[in-house]
Amino acid sequence: MGYEIPEPYVWDESFKTFYDNIDDEHKGLFKGVFDCAKDKSSAAALAHLVQVVDTHFSNEEAMMDKAKYSEVVPHKAAHKDFLGKIRALKAPLDDGTIDYAKDWLVNHIKGTDFKYKGKL
Ligand SMILES: [Fe+2]
Ligand SMILES: [Fe+2]
Repeated sequence: MGYEIPEPYVWDESFKTFYDNIDDEHKGLFKGVFDCAKDKSSAAALAHLVQVVDTHFSNEEAMMDKAKYSEVVPHKAAHKDFLGKIRALKAPLDDGTIDYAKDWLVNHIKGTDFKYKGKL
């Protein structure tokens, strides 16, 4: 998949899932990645990103579980893989890692999260 990566890296309405709590959390994930990109040497920014990603995935998964959403298993696996990767990172981050995170988030929201629209 190749969705356009926003520049500057900020959430916009093309990312709307129409679940306000999820959209608010997604805005926070964009900001978390943006802050890591702004200061690649910041361990605090990286720790914050891991925390907001972890919290968001938990909340989103709880909504999918509650709705008995049919694609929850592969969706959770995608979350687990990304969370594992960013948990293993150490500051300073390199440009390739930042690009990976930017790309993953955009493609995950539009390619994977969007599949649950109207189903939760
Ligand atoms: Fe997700
Ligand atoms: Fe999400």
